[in-house]
Amino acid sequence: MASILILIGTESGNAQMVADALKPVLEAAGHPVDVSDAAASAADLQAHDVLLVICATHGSGDIPTNIQPLAETLERERPDLSGHRYGVIALGDRTYQDTFCGGGKRVDRILELCGARKVGDRLEIDASSQPLPDEDALTWIEGWKGLVRQAVEKGFRTYHL
Ligand SMILES: Cc1cc2nc3c(=O)[nH]c(=O)nc-3n(C[C@H](O)[C@H](O)[C@H](O)COP(=O)(O)O)c2cc1C
Repeated sequence: MASILILIGTESGNAQMVADALKPVLEAAGHPVDVSDAAASAADLQAHDVLLVICATHGSGDIPTNIQPLAETLERERPDLSGHRYGVIALGDRTYQDTFCGGGKRVDRILELCGARKVGDRLEIDASSQPLPDEDALTWIEGWKGLVRQAVEKGFRTYHL
């Protein structure tokens, strides 16, 4: 099993709702799962093997305020996260066109810059066509948790084990 940290970026609660739906699914697959909307540095990530970012987009393609400290610190300090695996669920709205899911895309880029390795493709959920983001997320997580299991079976491990 992997120790999973769900990182939430939210202004109005949809990302939290998705996290609440996914946490029991991952736990039922045998993974200990923590959820944070306040992680602010690499130190806050180190106790976990796998990060699952669930991040909305606000303003004009911006990340939510609560996840800005983490994004800015990682971008500036570029800590080595090569021992981490991660996945991204980006929440957005296609009516914003050019900035669609910009928040989740930005966090994805930052984790990649720090050397973390992505598991699976980013899920992008469009609020203009999907009013219930947890539905799409519950479908996506079935594939993602299988990929996490494969990574664990291949023996990846990070700092704390
Ligand atoms: C003021 C405002 C600005 C937004 N800007 C964008 C945007 O630039 N791009 C985008 O894809 N979605 C945008 N959205 C849509 C949100 O990302 C989407 O509704 C999301 O589900 C909100 O998640 P949250 O409740 O976790 O904050 C915006 C929503 C609001 C209310």
